[in-house]
Amino acid sequence: MEERERWGSRAGFIMASIGAAIGLGNVWRFPYICYANGGGAFLIPYFVALITAGIPLMILEFALGRKAQAGAPSAFARIVGKKTEWIGWLSLFAVMLIFLYYPTIMAWSVNYAVHSATLRWGTDTQNFFYNHFLQTSGGPGILGGIRWPILAGLAVVWIAIYLCLFKGIKAVGKVVMWTVTIPWAILVIMVVRGLTLPGAVDGLKFYLTPDFTALLKPNVWLAAYGQVFFTLSLAMGTLIVYSSYLPKKSDISNNAYIASLANCGTSFFAGFAVFSTLGYLAQSMGVGVPEVAKSGLGLAFVTYPTVIRLLPFCAPFFGILFFIMLLTLGIDSAFSQVEPFVAGFTDKWHFSKKWALPLICFFGFLVGVLFTTRGGFYWLDIVDYFTCTFGLCLVGFLECVAIGYIYKARKMREYVNEVSEFKIGKWWDVMIMIVTPAILGISFVWELIKLVQNGYGSYPRWTSFVGIGILVLIIILSFVLAKTKGREE
Ligand code: PHE
Repeated sequence: MEERERWGSRAGFIMASIGAAIGLGNVWRFPYICYANGGGAFLIPYFVALITAGIPLMILEFALGRKAQAGAPSAFARIVGKKTEWIGWLSLFAVMLIFLYYPTIMAWSVNYAVHSATLRWGTDTQNFFYNHFLQTSGGPGILGGIRWPILAGLAVVWIAIYLCLFKGIKAVGKVVMWTVTIPWAILVIMVVRGLTLPGAVDGLKFYLTPDFTALLKPNVWLAAYGQVFFTLSLAMGTLIVYSSYLPKKSDISNNAYIASLANCGTSFFAGFAVFSTLGYLAQSMGVGVPEVAKSGLGLAFVTYPTVIRLLPFCAPFFGILFFIMLLTLGIDSAFSQVEPFVAGFTDKWHFSKKWALPLICFFGFLVGVLFTTRGGFYWLDIVDYFTCTFGLCLVGFLECVAIGYIYKARKMREYVNEVSEFKIGKWWDVMIMIVTPAILGISFVWELIKLVQNGYGSYPRWTSFVGIGILVLIIILSFVLAKTKGREE
């Protein structure tokens, strides 16, 4: 058996965890989910989700990976019991769905970096994005042919992912030093310009004014938990496999606090750039902030180009820099999605990584072609919704049950406390055993019923059945893989 790789240093691990966490989820996904769920109305559930699930589950996953010294499926099998191995596989299928579409957003960024040189989007960024760039078809039923520039971008992105991973995890720690720090500097420029635009205040009001009635909506809760899982790379095996590369003696809880707070702080900060721009757009178009842009996953590609165009000097330069930043943010997240998937298979069957890696990258590229079609935008939306809202929340729920009740939360907490600078208290058990599973369980069932009744968004009903079908399929596949014998059993 190949010897397990190790991180070069503690900073290497923290930076890699932050690098896996900070990504398009902060700059692209957070603002649009927040906007779609009512701005300020979303922030309270988001914050609650961070405290009740984000930090506790990150501690849980770090502990599980470190203790098991294996990827997600083997970690569940070794530590909790063979019967729970399928939860690990399910988390890997969830991350697989994400790495099938995530590089497409990066492919858009590649194109936008090129368009920045001439600020091609002009003043109507929304029209440019949907009609000129994506050339969206009439609906998910019409694929309408491939958009070649996006496909070319996708190829570039997958080659980059492959090259980064090929070098092994020590290199990851090093790449990430840059991919995390430079973007922060660029984000500051965006926020400052956003805040100084006329009308920015209206956008900020929408962003920051809490709306307590939203607390009664299960869909907002599910969206918040899904976003926290997505942004912290939880429930996807990523952090389990990353911490399995930790030397036996390293700290857990402190690392988890640093990574999750740094990450969610970044999202909150990026929100200022997006919402102040929305305020500006609303004022210049004479409409309210909630109506100003199509809510949905194109939001970032409408608002950031607007700010870039309005920069007082060197706009093309900052535009190029900004989209390169999106790429660098995305790349460490993207390879942290592929890594656990590869590790899951190599841990169980001892496949050679040399073969598994290019194969999986090629598979990712091939399926990704779907999202580069004119109807691909809708599919990206549907797959993103089902994976994050239902898939991740389901895995999060199952992790809580497996560790909280089968393994026993108290035992895991004692293990964490033995090795950590910060000791965690009984509150952790309460979150893992009661609060998080309760909120997730209730809102999950509620939403599922509503989904079956009404479908998702304004898409035809059959698309929801495709979404549910994919979820059922990956659950079945997880059971099958867990039942199959590995090399050591
Ligand atoms: N957390 C990453 C982001 O916010 C996405 C991600 C998901 C990374 C899964 C790794 C694993 O962009």
